Amino acid sequence: MPPSRTPPKSPSALEFQERDRFDMDYGTNTTTPLAMSAFPDIPNVAHGKPYMASWTSEIERSFELLHASLGPRMPLYSFVDIGCGKGKVPIVWRLCGKKAGIHQRIVGLDYHRPFIDIARHNHQKVFGNEGEFVDTDACAFDYSRLGNGLIAYLYNPFDNVILDKTLTRLRRIPCIIVYNIPVHAEVLPAHGFELIHERRGVNQNQETKIYSNHRRPA
Ligand SMILES: C[S@@+](CC[C@H](N)C(=O)[O-])C[C@H]1O[C@@H](n2cnc3c(N)ncnc32)[C@H](O)[C@@H]1O
Repeated sequence: MPPSRTPPKSPSALEFQERDRFDMDYGTNTTTPLAMSAFPDIPNVAHGKPYMASWTSEIERSFELLHASLGPRMPLYSFVDIGCGKGKVPIVWRLCGKKAGIHQRIVGLDYHRPFIDIARHNHQKVFGNEGEFVDTDACAFDYSRLGNGLIAYLYNPFDNVILDKTLTRLRRIPCIIVYNIPVHAEVLPAHGFELIHERRGVNQNQETKIYSNHRRPA
């Protein structure tokens, strides 16, 4: 077990291990939040949640679970972090993929352009290239561009209104959704998504629900 798997007792030590430590290890800028008041006039900003980075071990756990379940079919799925902020999730997902010897298309999208610039810079630091990050609103993006099989990651990015619109756009695509801090989980079944896994820990950042809209993943 890597050290990040043993939760330390104090909340601040846990916070350091799951957020700051990633930036210390990779020289990235993912931990510092950004006030939404700093956002320009983005149409759906009132529906959006503020930026916070996912916990490192929680991203790794979801990768390992899906890798174990999809096996050799994992690379058939593109991965998209919907509301990627500073790009930590695509970076951690790619690091997990490299370790497992898997090549997947990995994309991050966010409606706030400065996040996309920071995400590209962070990706450049870790992998020597900018990666694939798109400046777009989640409910305006054509997800079929990413292929016919998707793992979509959501870390509580927006409210039920935008979630509903985004899921409508995913309707015709075989899709697995990893929903971390799943506060609007009630929206998913109406879009044909079935719960296939759930877990929770002592902290809200350790609650994840995983859904699929197709019985046998592609
Ligand atoms: C809680 S943060 C998650 C950041 C990242 N996914 C992670 O886990 O480290 C939510 C992000 O969603 C973005 N967001 C909110 N509403 C959005 C929308 N309608 N379209 C695209 N991005 C959105 C915010 O700008 C913010 O960066």
